[in-house]
Amino acid sequence: MKALVLSGGKGTRLRPLTHTMAKQLVPVAGRPILGYVMSHIAEARIREVGVIISPETGEDVKAYLKDGSEWGIRTTYILQDSPLGLAHAVLTAREFLQDSDFVMYLGDNLLSYGVKDAVERFLEDRPDALIFLKEVEDPQRFGVAELDEQGRIIRLIEKPPEPPSNLALVGVYIFSPHIHEAISRIRPSQRGELEITDAIQEMINMGYTVKSEILDGWWLDTGKKDDLLEANTIVLDEYIKRSIRGKVDGSSQIVGRVEIEEGAEVLNSIVRGPVKICRDARIENSFIGPYTTVGESVTIRDSAIEHSVILNNSKVEGIERLEDSLIGRSSTVLRNQKMHKALRLMIGDDTVVEV
Ligand code: G1P
Repeated sequence: MKALVLSGGKGTRLRPLTHTMAKQLVPVAGRPILGYVMSHIAEARIREVGVIISPETGEDVKAYLKDGSEWGIRTTYILQDSPLGLAHAVLTAREFLQDSDFVMYLGDNLLSYGVKDAVERFLEDRPDALIFLKEVEDPQRFGVAELDEQGRIIRLIEKPPEPPSNLALVGVYIFSPHIHEAISRIRPSQRGELEITDAIQEMINMGYTVKSEILDGWWLDTGKKDDLLEANTIVLDEYIKRSIRGKVDGSSQIVGRVEIEEGAEVLNSIVRGPVKICRDARIENSFIGPYTTVGESVTIRDSAIEHSVILNNSKVEGIERLEDSLIGRSSTVLRNQKMHKALRLMIGDDTVVEV
């Protein structure tokens, strides 16, 4: 069994962050999403991992994953010149995959339990494909499955304007090599992409066994700001343990599950978990409330922040209350003392500011 991790694409829904960063490298609770993906693959005892990269962000992805030894896997990088679809990515990886079974894992998807058990079930039952479904509120954003009364798949449709069910296709699939035959028979969709959803439908048409399971744990497609904040909330809830390796002065109070990494400093502040404060961050005269991740080398002074993600090297100063916010890298948010009513902004492309 091999794995194919998709880490290309443009990440348009996460702009402006993704103007300068691969969406798969956006951190959730201080760790890039791809890091969780690799851990899940390693847990399933898969060693050979093909990573699809794009010309735009490929070098950053490589710089993070390197040879994979941090996870005990071996990475092979495969360049997909342009984002022509998930099935096109499989086609591009044909030489790497050979005739092996493989797990295909979209690098911006996060699953609670990973894929270990699913891989075992696939190897026992030997279907031609195993896919995972999850009920969602907005199925038109995803591939959607229609099932019969016995729970067998009737059909799969990519982003239907009128979804026949609320069961979305999760971005993790397990395939036998028959998927390649199906891919060779499909044509690009209306959005001009070779869709993996169409290829799986084609497997069904060809008489291959496609099994589906309803996922019982959580699943997040971290494509948008609110999804990313939700991912941060869930991961902080599940994984954060109290661990204080940074410096906390006598006039600060650390309440509940708070992780403070080496080199971070908390001075005259209150931190109420679950919160993660990454390396070399500095919190001064502030309140950091639940479900907040403070990135590396971030400075927060005279502010109150809750349910937010502040990425590396940013600065927040004199902000009375910052909530539900996602602040990109090396940004500054500060109160201007001189001009009380005026806002002075210098913001990136595709940014949203709510005042
Ligand atoms: C892709 C798939 C879609 C699936 C989704 C899961 O969508 O095409 O079927 O439901 O991933 O994240 P995309 O991210 O390309 O819009």
